[in-house]
Amino acid sequence: LKPRPLIAGNWKMNGLAESLDQARAVAAALDAKPAGARVAICPPATLLDRLSAALDGSSVLTGGQDCHVKTSGAHTGDIAAAMLIDAGASLVILGHSERREDHAETSALVAAKVETALTAGLEPIICVGESLAQREAGSALPVVTAQVRESLPAALAGQAFSVAYEPIWAIGTGRTATVADIEEMHAAIRAQLVELFGGHGATVPILYGGSVKPDNAAEILGAAEVGGALVGGASLKAADFLAIIAAA
Ligand code: G3H
Repeated sequence: LKPRPLIAGNWKMNGLAESLDQARAVAAALDAKPAGARVAICPPATLLDRLSAALDGSSVLTGGQDCHVKTSGAHTGDIAAAMLIDAGASLVILGHSERREDHAETSALVAAKVETALTAGLEPIICVGESLAQREAGSALPVVTAQVRESLPAALAGQAFSVAYEPIWAIGTGRTATVADIEEMHAAIRAQLVELFGGHGATVPILYGGSVKPDNAAEILGAAEVGGALVGGASLKAADFLAIIAAA
């Protein structure tokens, strides 16, 4: 059975208390007119507890943007998977390219974080994607399939999770991959998932991320093997996020 598409908003390092109103507006609209997709918002950690409380009783899930590989201890500035759960999260984004770049996260570390998240009971959204230089060198496919192999631990077998393909050059740039590029990459990721997880791998949602907006959402979400979207900038405004959700 094919799972419902997942539309996840990643607020990144944006959002103060007033942003909760945008999330409340999304929840109210979806309560009035339920979406076909599952919907989640991943706010900065400072807002997670309040956002989860604001969305309690609605259909909108909340998630973290990262967690530490260890379960607790002396890791100043970091956040543990159990803390995300304590703050109401049910999902966590792991291996986002901004974490891989800003914090030198390797695929091996991402895989270890995925295991930590699963043990805590979080559903991981595992991000992969090539840089512009890698795409121009013609190595996008091998780079991304290697990231999938190395970032997805065997512990994911039978578990709920998704993979998000985010070409780095399309993130926050207003530039999206073409549908042909997306379909080619998603097919390669699907093949890798089936190789790793058999029949289960055939059903894991593969999200696209990178400048998804109301005006391109229907085309992207309609592409083969696109099982949802990881939305950055456009998830900060309720009207834009709702338009993307409606396209799923
Ligand atoms: O996690 C979300 C992605 O990095 C996409 O961000 O929609 O602002 O391009 P964007």
